[in-house]
Amino acid sequence: MDISVEISPMKMDDLDEVLAIEASCFPSSWSRGVFMRELWLSISRNLVAKIETGMGKEIAGYANYWIIPAEVQLHNIAVRKDMRRKGIASKLVAEIMKSAHKEGASWGTLEVRRSNEGAISLYKKNGFVVEGVRPFYYYTDTREDALIMWVNINEWFMKRNNYGT
Ligand SMILES: CC(C)(COP(=O)(O)OP(=O)(O)OC[C@H]1O[C@@H](n2cnc3c(N)ncnc32)[C@H](O)[C@@H]1OP(=O)(O)O)[C@@H](O)C(=O)NCCC(=O)NCCS
Repeated sequence: MDISVEISPMKMDDLDEVLAIEASCFPSSWSRGVFMRELWLSISRNLVAKIETGMGKEIAGYANYWIIPAEVQLHNIAVRKDMRRKGIASKLVAEIMKSAHKEGASWGTLEVRRSNEGAISLYKKNGFVVEGVRPFYYYTDTREDALIMWVNINEWFMKRNNYGT
Protein backbone atom coordinates (compact mmCIF):
# COMPACT_ATOMS: atom_id res chain seq x y z
CA MET A 1 0.00 0.00 0.00
CA ASP A 2 1.43 3.41 -0.95
CA ILE A 3 0.65 5.93 1.79
CA SER A 4 1.08 9.66 1.62
CA VAL A 5 4.14 10.70 3.63
CA GLU A 6 5.19 14.29 4.22
CA ILE A 7 8.88 14.77 4.94
CA SER A 8 10.06 17.99 6.56
CA PRO A 9 12.88 19.32 8.74
CA MET A 10 12.56 18.29 12.40
CA LYS A 11 11.61 21.07 14.82
CA MET A 12 11.79 21.41 18.61
CA ASP A 13 8.01 20.89 18.75
CA ASP A 14 8.48 17.44 17.19
CA LEU A 15 10.73 16.17 19.98
CA ASP A 16 8.04 14.65 22.26
CA GLU A 17 6.85 12.34 19.48
CA VAL A 18 10.37 11.66 18.23
CA LEU A 19 11.60 10.75 21.73
CA ALA A 20 8.70 8.32 22.23
CA ILE A 21 9.66 6.50 19.03
CA GLU A 22 13.37 6.64 19.87
CA ALA A 23 12.82 5.10 23.34
CA SER A 24 10.82 2.23 21.85
CA CYS A 25 13.43 1.41 19.20
CA PHE A 26 16.93 1.30 20.67
CA PRO A 27 18.68 -0.30 23.66
CA SER A 28 20.62 2.98 24.12
CA SER A 29 18.31 5.72 23.00
CA TRP A 30 19.19 9.35 22.33
CA SER A 31 18.06 11.84 24.99
CA ARG A 32 16.26 15.13 24.41
CA GLY A 33 19.59 16.87 24.93
CA VAL A 34 21.23 14.87 22.13
CA PHE A 35 18.42 15.72 19.70
CA MET A 36 18.57 19.38 20.75
CA ARG A 37 22.31 19.46 20.06
CA GLU A 38 21.67 17.87 16.64
CA LEU A 39 19.05 20.50 15.80
CA TRP A 40 21.61 23.18 16.59
CA LEU A 41 24.71 21.65 14.95
CA SER A 42 25.51 23.18 11.55
CA ILE A 43 26.55 19.89 9.86
CA SER A 44 23.55 18.00 11.22
CA ARG A 45 20.32 17.45 9.26
CA ASN A 46 17.17 16.10 10.88
CA LEU A 47 14.00 15.02 9.12
CA VAL A 48 10.58 13.84 10.25
CA ALA A 49 8.12 11.79 8.20
CA LYS A 50 4.51 12.64 8.98
CA ILE A 51 1.36 10.84 7.95
CA GLU A 52 -2.31 11.76 8.29
CA THR A 53 -3.92 9.29 10.68
CA GLY A 54 -7.46 10.67 10.74
CA MET A 55 -6.65 12.33 14.09
CA GLY A 56 -4.27 14.82 12.51
CA LYS A 57 -0.70 14.50 11.35
CA GLU A 58 1.50 12.21 13.38
CA ILE A 59 5.22 11.54 13.20
CA ALA A 60 5.77 8.07 11.78
CA GLY A 61 9.55 8.23 11.60
CA TYR A 62 12.62 10.41 11.58
CA ALA A 63 16.24 10.48 10.49
CA ASN A 64 19.43 12.22 11.52
CA TYR A 65 22.48 12.58 9.31
CA TRP A 66 25.55 14.74 8.95
CA ILE A 67 26.81 16.34 5.77
CA ILE A 68 30.57 16.42 5.86
CA PRO A 69 32.06 17.72 2.63
CA ALA A 70 31.59 14.96 0.00
CA GLU A 71 30.12 12.51 2.50
CA VAL A 72 26.79 11.92 4.21
CA GLN A 73 26.90 10.00 7.49
CA LEU A 74 23.57 8.47 8.47
CA HIS A 75 23.44 8.36 12.28
CA ASN A 76 19.86 7.58 13.15
CA ILE A 77 16.69 6.43 11.45
CA ALA A 78 13.59 4.94 13.04
CA VAL A 79 9.95 4.31 12.25
CA ARG A 80 7.08 3.87 14.72
CA LYS A 81 6.41 0.16 15.30
CA ASP A 82 2.81 0.30 14.08
CA MET A 83 3.84 2.07 10.88
CA ARG A 84 6.63 -0.19 9.64
CA ARG A 85 6.86 -1.97 6.27
CA LYS A 86 4.96 0.82 4.53
CA GLY A 87 8.00 2.34 2.84
CA ILE A 88 8.45 5.21 5.32
CA ALA A 89 12.15 4.58 6.06
CA SER A 90 12.80 4.15 2.33
CA LYS A 91 11.22 7.55 1.71
CA LEU A 92 13.44 9.08 4.40
CA VAL A 93 16.53 7.44 2.83
CA ALA A 94 15.53 8.77 -0.62
CA GLU A 95 15.12 12.27 0.81
CA ILE A 96 18.53 12.02 2.50
CA MET A 97 20.14 10.99 -0.80
CA LYS A 98 18.53 13.89 -2.66
CA SER A 99 19.47 16.49 -0.08
CA ALA A 100 23.01 15.09 0.34
CA HIS A 101 23.48 15.12 -3.44
CA LYS A 102 22.30 18.74 -3.61
CA GLU A 103 24.85 19.61 -0.93
CA GLY A 104 27.65 17.96 -2.91
CA ALA A 105 28.02 14.60 -1.17
CA SER A 106 29.23 11.74 -3.38
CA TRP A 107 28.98 8.83 -0.95
CA GLY A 108 27.15 7.82 2.19
CA THR A 109 28.19 5.73 5.19
CA LEU A 110 26.54 4.30 8.27
CA GLU A 111 27.06 1.77 11.05
CA VAL A 112 24.43 -0.83 11.85
CA ARG A 113 24.24 -3.58 14.47
CA ARG A 114 25.20 -6.92 12.96
CA SER A 115 21.96 -8.44 14.34
CA ASN A 116 19.68 -5.74 12.89
CA GLU A 117 18.48 -7.71 9.89
CA GLY A 118 15.58 -5.37 9.14
CA ALA A 119 17.78 -2.28 8.92
CA ILE A 120 20.46 -4.12 6.93
CA SER A 121 17.79 -5.22 4.43
CA LEU A 122 16.48 -1.66 4.22
CA TYR A 123 19.94 -0.30 3.47
CA LYS A 124 20.78 -3.05 0.95
CA LYS A 125 17.49 -2.44 -0.84
CA ASN A 126 18.51 1.21 -1.04
CA GLY A 127 21.90 0.54 -2.61
CA PHE A 128 24.18 0.28 0.43
CA VAL A 129 26.79 -2.49 0.58
CA VAL A 130 28.72 -3.86 3.56
CA GLU A 131 32.28 -2.54 3.46
CA GLY A 132 33.68 -3.55 6.85
CA VAL A 133 33.15 -4.35 10.52
CA ARG A 134 33.78 -2.34 13.70
CA PRO A 135 34.23 -4.93 16.49
CA PHE A 136 32.37 -4.20 19.79
CA TYR A 137 31.16 -0.86 18.41
CA TYR A 138 28.06 -1.02 20.65
CA TYR A 139 30.15 -1.71 23.74
CA THR A 140 27.87 0.26 26.08
CA ASP A 141 24.93 -2.13 25.72
CA THR A 142 24.89 -5.34 23.67
CA ARG A 143 28.65 -5.15 22.88
CA GLU A 144 27.93 -6.32 19.36
CA ASP A 145 29.83 -5.45 16.22
CA ALA A 146 28.78 -2.79 13.75
CA LEU A 147 28.71 -3.42 10.04
CA ILE A 148 29.99 -0.43 8.10
CA MET A 149 27.81 0.16 5.04
CA TRP A 150 28.54 2.42 2.12
CA VAL A 151 26.72 3.79 -0.92
CA ASN A 152 27.86 5.69 -4.00
CA ILE A 153 25.27 8.46 -4.30
CA ASN A 154 25.79 9.07 -8.04
CA GLU A 155 25.22 5.36 -8.75
CA TRP A 156 22.17 5.46 -6.48
CA PHE A 157 20.67 8.20 -8.70
CA MET A 158 21.52 6.35 -11.93
CA LYS A 159 19.78 3.19 -10.67
CA ARG A 160 16.74 5.18 -9.52
CA ASN A 161 16.39 6.77 -12.97
CA ASN A 162 16.72 3.40 -14.65
CA TYR A 163 14.00 1.99 -12.46
CA GLY A 164 11.90 5.13 -12.93
CA THR A 165 11.47 5.61 -9.18
C1 LIG B 1 14.70 -0.43 10.15
C2 LIG B 1 13.45 0.46 10.05
C3 LIG B 1 13.87 1.93 10.11
C4 LIG B 1 12.73 0.17 8.73
O1 LIG B 1 11.63 1.07 8.60
P1 LIG B 1 10.40 0.77 7.62
O2 LIG B 1 9.65 2.03 7.39
O3 LIG B 1 9.63 -0.38 8.13
O4 LIG B 1 11.17 0.32 6.29
P2 LIG B 1 10.55 0.22 4.82
O5 LIG B 1 9.07 -0.05 4.90
O6 LIG B 1 10.99 1.39 4.02
O7 LIG B 1 11.27 -1.10 4.29
C5 LIG B 1 11.92 -1.17 3.04
C6 LIG B 1 12.50 -2.53 2.85
O8 LIG B 1 13.50 -2.80 3.86
C7 LIG B 1 13.43 -4.19 4.22
N1 LIG B 1 12.97 -4.32 5.60
C8 LIG B 1 12.52 -3.32 6.42
N2 LIG B 1 12.24 -3.83 7.65
C9 LIG B 1 12.51 -5.15 7.60
C10 LIG B 1 12.43 -6.22 8.55
N3 LIG B 1 11.99 -6.00 9.81
N4 LIG B 1 12.80 -7.45 8.16
C11 LIG B 1 13.24 -7.68 6.91
N5 LIG B 1 13.35 -6.72 5.94
C12 LIG B 1 12.99 -5.47 6.29
C13 LIG B 1 12.42 -4.83 3.28
O9 LIG B 1 13.13 -5.22 2.11
C14 LIG B 1 11.50 -3.66 2.99
O10 LIG B 1 10.80 -3.79 1.78
P3 LIG B 1 9.42 -4.65 1.77
O11 LIG B 1 8.59 -4.18 2.94
O12 LIG B 1 8.83 -4.30 0.43
O13 LIG B 1 9.81 -6.09 1.91
C15 LIG B 1 12.46 0.13 11.23
O14 LIG B 1 12.27 -1.26 11.29
C16 LIG B 1 12.91 0.63 12.57
O15 LIG B 1 12.61 1.76 12.97
N6 LIG B 1 13.66 -0.21 13.32
C17 LIG B 1 14.15 0.17 14.65
C18 LIG B 1 15.19 1.25 14.57
C19 LIG B 1 16.39 0.79 13.77
O16 LIG B 1 16.84 -0.35 13.85
N7 LIG B 1 16.95 1.73 12.97
C20 LIG B 1 18.12 1.47 12.16
C21 LIG B 1 19.35 1.76 12.95
S1 LIG B 1 20.83 1.46 11.99
